[in-house]
Amino acid sequence: MVLETNITKMFGIKHPIVAAPMGPFYTTKLTIAVSEAGGLGVLSHSALVSDYLSGRSAIQIMKDNMMEVIEHTDKPFGFNIRTSRREADALELVKEIPKFIMSNQRLKEQCIYAITSAGSSKMLPESQDYKKLKESGSQIKHFHVAPALWLADKCVASNVDGVVVTGNEGGGHQSYEKVSTLVVLQQILNKHPDLPVIACGGFATGEGLAAALSMGAGAIAMGSRFIASEESEFSIEYKSVPPKAKAQDTILVTGALGPIRLWQNEYSLHHGLVADKDAKIAQETAMTQEDIIAEGRAYEAAYKGDTNSGAVLLGQSIGIIESLKKVKDIIEDIVSGAEKRLKKAAGYIS
Ligand SMILES: Cc1cc2nc3c(=O)[nH]c(=O)nc-3n(C[C@H](O)[C@H](O)[C@H](O)COP(=O)(O)O)c2cc1C
Repeated sequence: MVLETNITKMFGIKHPIVAAPMGPFYTTKLTIAVSEAGGLGVLSHSALVSDYLSGRSAIQIMKDNMMEVIEHTDKPFGFNIRTSRREADALELVKEIPKFIMSNQRLKEQCIYAITSAGSSKMLPESQDYKKLKESGSQIKHFHVAPALWLADKCVASNVDGVVVTGNEGGGHQSYEKVSTLVVLQQILNKHPDLPVIACGGFATGEGLAAALSMGAGAIAMGSRFIASEESEFSIEYKSVPPKAKAQDTILVTGALGPIRLWQNEYSLHHGLVADKDAKIAQETAMTQEDIIAEGRAYEAAYKGDTNSGAVLLGQSIGIIESLKKVKDIIEDIVSGAEKRLKKAAGYIS
């Protein structure tokens, strides 16, 4: 049995399952595994603090990662750019990456999903190089992360091809709105019924996929579930957290771009949460370069294995992740679970 949706058809993928971007970490091997297993793998906007200190740019990293993906799979995949005002390299990425894709026929055929987040939904579509890429015959589609209805409205005004609707239970970057995936999905789908939607935040099971598809989304995107996979690049200490954690073991704190959801540990329990964007901007002006590097070091420390004093980005879905598995098994178990749920639910109609 196959679950065919507007998203599986748009990207020519077998299953309605997408990898959520997880920068500043590397998700190249994860991208390959997800795409090979019939989902849509996504390269993160990667650059660890050690990359930054050694002069390796996010642009070079993205190019290298793209080349690694097409060496190992011929399936479709995508990439993320965080378009926040705090991302110094975002403007260069929206120029250089479309040019790079255009210069390589295989990349042009396979790299067909651009997901922007954490900032402007206009930055990529306004890039002359992105326009040229589209005019050159690329089938690339642009989605932007919408964690609130008013942000989805802005995405529609920017002529996006779709939105990734991410609720407050999700891991990592969060909006100030704090609305759950269940509610924000209904708000956006009610107002924009024809907008292609990928539901994100809190998904890790067949029940979740069935619920998202029933509500009108065309796929789910998952971050925490894929961290706990054999193929993900996260340290064994990091990827072992979800199977033993409870749903209530995460906390929202202030991160570099705004609120972030972290696993509770020594690091997160000693960080506060700003109330709104104005408070965040005030806090940023007081931050020194050393403070910013210290924050980057905390991310990198966790990624490399220090889950006590490092920043462990994870969502509430850790409460429904029971084991560390191969990506293929994760995807197949979720799809077969969703099929059972959807068949059962169809039986309710008389
Ligand atoms: C480790 C980690 C890093 C993340 N980094 C990014 C990022 O760079 N860009 C982005 O748009 N979202 C980022 N997110 C958010 C995810 O894309 C996604 O919204 C979230 O993981 C969904 O919740 P889930 O973890 O319950 O699946 C990150 C999440 C995690 C867990």
